[in-house]
Amino acid sequence: MGPQDSQDTGGADLAARVAAISYWYHKIELPGGITTPGWAPINPAAYRVPEDLSGLRVLDVGAWDGYWSFEALKRGAREVVAIDDFSDFLGSLEADQRTGWDSFDLCRDALGVADRCAREEMSVYDVTEDRMGRFDVVFCFGVLYHLRHPLLALDRFAAVCDQAIFVESAILDDYSPYRGGIGQGYPDGQMVMEFYPDAQYGNNDTNYWVPTLQGLGHMVRSTGFDTVNGAKLMDKPEAPPYCRGFVYASRDSADSRFKEGS
Ligand SMILES: C[S@@+](CC[C@H](N)C(=O)[O-])C[C@H]1O[C@@H](n2cnc3c(N)ncnc32)[C@H](O)[C@@H]1O
Repeated sequence: MGPQDSQDTGGADLAARVAAISYWYHKIELPGGITTPGWAPINPAAYRVPEDLSGLRVLDVGAWDGYWSFEALKRGAREVVAIDDFSDFLGSLEADQRTGWDSFDLCRDALGVADRCAREEMSVYDVTEDRMGRFDVVFCFGVLYHLRHPLLALDRFAAVCDQAIFVESAILDDYSPYRGGIGQGYPDGQMVMEFYPDAQYGNNDTNYWVPTLQGLGHMVRSTGFDTVNGAKLMDKPEAPPYCRGFVYASRDSADSRFKEGS
């Protein structure tokens, strides 16, 4: 059954299946004018994801409901492999509000892309070429600050990535829980990373490390990418969820550098 059939014959059924999922993280447009009732991404246009991913094989790390997996396919990706270990409960979700791949599979079927979209429950640390093959592009959105070993994870991604990596993360430029909150971060290109042994960042005990944009850019650069660019997702964020940065890096130059604000 393709997306159109689902619109013609199964719209009510699809809406009921969407409503039966207890928590949606992503807002995903499905056939029949149905949109999943999540809240993320807040501003997808601010991500520097290329409009054209034609023919590329994409790894989507920490995919949750799959917004960015399906977006990659919409933009022409040949194949997407999504991974997640379902470890993030946002500091507030109940155990039954994370139901594995249920929400992802629902969207994948409704969009009719199952033949181009695999998914696997696994940790970032287990990404290897032997297990997963090679990728043209890696997406790592909203994941890095959840990791106890962020550089190890970036090394794993770099080892399977032939063209470009895109990383979105919480950043410290405009917010630090240790320095007094919003407007009390580390601006102007400072190289800093804070560690949260408990739930100091966002009341979520799976948040461990948050870097400045400068730090994030150089972390990605240190894994072997050449041209590394970065930008804040919002210029003057007024609340912690908006204090985010985006880094995109490629292997296209002999010159290793990080450029902020682009
Ligand atoms: C904040 S969500 C981001 C979802 C999506 N990538 C986005 O940006 O909209 C982080 C996701 O990463 C997953 N995650 C966290 N640590 C992980 C790990 N070590 N291995 C695989 N997935 C992980 C979480 O379960 C969660 O689904």
